[in-house]
Amino acid sequence: MNSNSFQIAILFNEDAQIARGDPQDLLAVQYTVTATQHLFDALTSLGYPVTKLAVRGNLEELEDILASFPPKDTFIFNNCDGFNGNNMGAVEVIRLIERMGFKHTGAASDSIEMCIDKPRSKERLIQFGVPTPRYQVFDRPAGDFLLEFPVIIKPSVEDASMGIDLDSVVSNRECLFHKIAYIVEKYEQPAMVEEFVTGRELAVAMWGNEVVEILPIAEEDFSWVENPLERLLTYESKWKTDSPYYQNIPARVPALLNRKETLAVKKAAEGSFRAMGLCDFGRVDVRFNNGIPFIIDINELPDLSPESGFWNSARTTGITYPHMIENILKLALKREGWTA
Ligand SMILES: Nc1ncnc2c1ncn2[C@@H]1O[C@H](COP(=O)(O)OP(=O)(O)O)[C@@H](O)[C@H]1O
Ligand SMILES: [Mg+2]
Repeated sequence: MNSNSFQIAILFNEDAQIARGDPQDLLAVQYTVTATQHLFDALTSLGYPVTKLAVRGNLEELEDILASFPPKDTFIFNNCDGFNGNNMGAVEVIRLIERMGFKHTGAASDSIEMCIDKPRSKERLIQFGVPTPRYQVFDRPAGDFLLEFPVIIKPSVEDASMGIDLDSVVSNRECLFHKIAYIVEKYEQPAMVEEFVTGRELAVAMWGNEVVEILPIAEEDFSWVENPLERLLTYESKWKTDSPYYQNIPARVPALLNRKETLAVKKAAEGSFRAMGLCDFGRVDVRFNNGIPFIIDINELPDLSPESGFWNSARTTGITYPHMIENILKLALKREGWTA
């Protein structure tokens, strides 16, 4: 098949509200709409016939809309990372399109489900021998604490640093249980408590299928932040453009790593890609300490906008933005046998 015989539909979520959490989280959730426009413009500029397909309201409505797109000549570019303000909702959406026979970019629904669920992802990484910090899950602010302080407390099924601020890193039981209570109540989900890995933070973007190419590795430059326990990417540092934490923590590409360090990071990143069954592309977040690349987060559908870490890495190879997006599409088309 060549691209004249099918169209690309970019599937994305357009959420009017969030289901739970902090009201400020809506900003991150709605950013998908902006990112989608960039995908649309990129593919359009290269001559692809592209439509945008917004997921709103309910799945029946989506199914009705999709009924007018024949699966055999509509390839879906998946940029749906939630549904009705709920991350896990993306799994239902992708299950629906897969059941209707659509092929799409990126990980399959089972893999997405595992990646969104942080404790499940970690179990899987451990099974595959990929280093990840020790952790515990709490569904209420009580119980035995088996880890070593300092620890970080995160919601177990969110992303974009939702629910993460400087108080998320704690060094005593009182603060620990206080934060667990906050996550459980506000985010209506178990809290994942993980040993806080001091040291460097890297982000590894990669793409491919049989062969996975690791793009130039990025490092968060925390030199502006004095306290090592405050060296982390909070919601504020990712989303509040007027915050000094947003303005003073740049990502540097390439990270300065020696050969041995580079090999260790690449091995853990590719190991994660395989363990989680990612397809076409992905990004992992790494805390690097004492030569060990601890995988802290797997992004099966990382942001691909011109503001994103993925682009920040890819651009240093000399590729243009539209061609980066096209490459992801091409990897998916090839994997599905739609092109040679
Ligand atoms: N175990 C950890 N040790 C040190 N920092 C961490 C750890 N876990 C998370 N962080 C910090 O919190 C940020 C957000 O956590 P992450 O697990 O990547 O969640 P999200 O899915 O919201 O991006 C990370 O980029 C990192 O700065
Ligand atoms: Mg992350």
